[in-house]
Amino acid sequence: MTKTRSLFLVTVGVLLALGAIANGDRGAVASGSTDRMARLPAVDPACDPDLLPPLRATLCRLARLAEGRRLFDREEFGGNGRTCETCHSGRDGTIDPREVARRLARDPNDELFRHDGLDDFVEGTSRISADATVLVRRELPFGVSLTEDPAASSVVVARGVPSTLNTPALDPALMYDLRDPTLVDQALGAIRGHALNTVPPTRLELELIAEFQKTDRRFFSNRTLRRFARGGDSPRLPAGRTASEKRGREFFVDAPWNPPSKKGLCAFCHSGPMLNESNEFVELPTGAPPGWRAFDVGVSNRNALNHPVVSFDVTDACGTTLTVESPDPGILLTGVYQIPMLAALLPPEATCQLHPAFFANMHKTPQLWGVEHTAPYFHDNSAKTLEDVLEQYNFMFESNMGFPITDGNVELTEQDIEDLVAFMKLL
Ligand code: HEC
Ligand code: HEC
Repeated sequence: MTKTRSLFLVTVGVLLALGAIANGDRGAVASGSTDRMARLPAVDPACDPDLLPPLRATLCRLARLAEGRRLFDREEFGGNGRTCETCHSGRDGTIDPREVARRLARDPNDELFRHDGLDDFVEGTSRISADATVLVRRELPFGVSLTEDPAASSVVVARGVPSTLNTPALDPALMYDLRDPTLVDQALGAIRGHALNTVPPTRLELELIAEFQKTDRRFFSNRTLRRFARGGDSPRLPAGRTASEKRGREFFVDAPWNPPSKKGLCAFCHSGPMLNESNEFVELPTGAPPGWRAFDVGVSNRNALNHPVVSFDVTDACGTTLTVESPDPGILLTGVYQIPMLAALLPPEATCQLHPAFFANMHKTPQLWGVEHTAPYFHDNSAKTLEDVLEQYNFMFESNMGFPITDGNVELTEQDIEDLVAFMKLL
């Protein structure tokens, strides 16, 4: 009896100590020489919890998380001093102009103000200060070239930093142009592109970064979502308490297109448990199939931030070339047939029924849980508030893009905007 009890107490002690490390006791991990560390059994993060007995499996999981946290927050891979946390910082997993101003005032040498954070990769902090965007260099896919410079192999666009809330564990569509098929590919791209590493990450390190983002509390906007990621019940639309919140909710209920009724207007594209999938009614208003994950809501077309407009020549599998002008054509830069989750919903590329230029300016439909905390919005950060987002939708509803939803059939009134903002704050 006593023996069992003392074994139990030792176990609890070890778990608490490891828990403290996994929860960010950086000093202990860094020095490795505190009393607490000295008492811990060393667990190799290369361990596999599925192959271990329960207690060792728990220790293994904690060791893997602690290492994932260290890699995300502090590992520089011999690069320019940046870590994942440089840009996906704080409780909101992103940066906004207020945070940028605070960091610039505190320390102009903050790692944020390097390389792609600067106006032209070399100097200047005006763009990041105004809009919290960074420069992203995209290799052009086969069939896409720059009209003005046909030999160019890449183009640079300015994009916001999407929040790491909820997405890593619960959204298989990664990046505004859906280019990365997995979190491991994504992390490798970030280490190369943002941190300019000189030390290559190992496969295990990339997996630990992914695992950390899929597990730690920091990457979820509430407990229901974290439980959902572990196989629990899916989140449900909040009921709303006030009359305004309840009216706002109606826009997110799945319903057929029936203008001038606005019921279901947002759910066409923001449906499913994460509010990021198109629903069964989407075809009539937009022409897209159910489950489609990228749309053009007129953000690039409007170009509110006046980014340089680039001309792209786009050639399909049958040799037909069309020209597209855009500051950031989104999934065109990945190639729609290179995105398996979209290609699966399209007629085969060789049939040339849909020209790839048709997909210009479509960007990933983001999940909306916790959206109140993740401003600025849209791929270019052009909407600084939720009210700005809804103003953009009124622009889109009037934009005559040839689909019923863009042909002036609906308009958000001031009351609608108030109701939608009130409801989205509950997410
Ligand atoms: C310089 C700032 C910066 C750093 C450093 C950075 N990111 Fe990002 N992150 C971005 C930007 C910008 C995007 C979107 C890029 C795009 O779509 O072209 C992004 C996208 C992502 C996404 C996809 C989110 C979504 O909604 O699709 C994940 C996940 C992510 N980053 C994780 C990481 C990890 C892990 C690291 C470290 C290895 C990291 N990031 C380092 C700026 C940064
Ligand atoms: C046709 C499909 C479609 C419809 C309809 C639609 N959305 Fe979106 N939504 C998107 C896409 C795509 C984006 C990302 C656009 C971008 O980055 O350029 C987006 C982005 C957003 C964002 C910004 C989120 C972020 O993290 O940046 C919010 C908020 C939002 N939508 C709310 C709404 C509301 C409210 C409605 C109804 C009035 C609505 N959406 C209707 C497709 C749609």
